[in-house]
Amino acid sequence: ELHALVMAGGGGTRFWPRSRQSHPKQFLRFRGERTLLQETVERLAAQIPPERTWVITSAAHRAQAVEQLAEWLGAEQVIGEPSGRDTAACVGLGAALVSRRNPQAALLVVPADHIIEPVQEFRRAVHAAVQFLRDYPDRLITFGIRPTYPATGYGYIRRGELLGTRQEVYASQVREFREKPNFATAEQFLACGEYFWNSGIFLWRVETILDELAQRRPALHAAVREIAAAWNTPQRDAVFQSLYSNLERISIDYAVMQDAGQAGRVLVVHAPFQWDDVGSWLALERHNPQDGDGNTVQGLHCGVDTSRCVIVSDAGHLIATLGVRDLVIVQCGAATLVTTRQSEADVKKLVEALKKRG
Ligand code: GDD
Ligand code: MG
Repeated sequence: ELHALVMAGGGGTRFWPRSRQSHPKQFLRFRGERTLLQETVERLAAQIPPERTWVITSAAHRAQAVEQLAEWLGAEQVIGEPSGRDTAACVGLGAALVSRRNPQAALLVVPADHIIEPVQEFRRAVHAAVQFLRDYPDRLITFGIRPTYPATGYGYIRRGELLGTRQEVYASQVREFREKPNFATAEQFLACGEYFWNSGIFLWRVETILDELAQRRPALHAAVREIAAAWNTPQRDAVFQSLYSNLERISIDYAVMQDAGQAGRVLVVHAPFQWDDVGSWLALERHNPQDGDGNTVQGLHCGVDTSRCVIVSDAGHLIATLGVRDLVIVQCGAATLVTTRQSEADVKKLVEALKKRG
């Protein structure tokens, strides 16, 4: 029995002024009509029934998530964390809840804020991974993306022995899982040619990942089991509130994947799909058409002698530009960001400065 866990609790500051606290990346539209969260759940819907699809987000965003997902999921599938504890807690809770229903179940874990295309290739990869899991039931399965630059914000997966194909998708044994290396190391990994990026998508049996957590993070493991045990009782909210907020804040990559990779318990499926973590405003260029001057526009724009800009505005808000190039301009409500192509990756710095200013 296959369940899915959508991790949708990230904060995200790189999309200021659109993101802010109230609208993290997963709730934004980067192309077309659907938000990344909606795209994520829709992508899963053909393979996993709604009663086996779980979304974990922060309590503050739960109502927003329920509303965005009404087309696919009932409100009881959407869980609001009393406080964000990073992904080890999120995965642990999801696995413990599913395990109460069926300890034999497998769990597909997916981030809620990526663009993946085409959807058929994603489904083929999931199908293949499920078959690999059947043959290697005690492994942790990752989905590897061919790296294109020495990113320091991703995990890297070094592949070992090739295990063959399912659905014409390859998988390999993993020799090393390294979360967020520094730049020099990332450059080495890229040059080596044996590394994938970790897409952040995982497949495992719920009891396998709970065992890993029990070994490496016993307190966290005990707490999520206890919360799951109280889930269908009147104590649920009290137990969830009191235990969850005290959990260690650590990602599943640091808590489990690095050590498990070292121990030979990780496999990597060579992802056949295109994947984009949509790290910043410039990513809009990859997913939307450009005008004749290379501008990417969402909203109303009138430009004269304007080229290679990314321009985003609220409905009805006109942005007019004259004699500019390589700018990123994003208007949202009463705030407007103006930056350059080169500085755009550092929007985080700006957000911190704004916080200090109050
Ligand atoms: N429910 C919940 N609670 N979800 C969370 C929390 C939390 O406390 N923290 C993060 N998430 C969600 C995010 O919304 C996102 O969908 C996913 O979990 C991954 O978290 P990120 O914070 O975005 O992780 P990352 O991008 O730094 O690193 C991970 O993803 C990379 C690929 O994008 C790692 O798995 C890397 O190894 C990987 O390369
Ligand atoms: Mg991310």
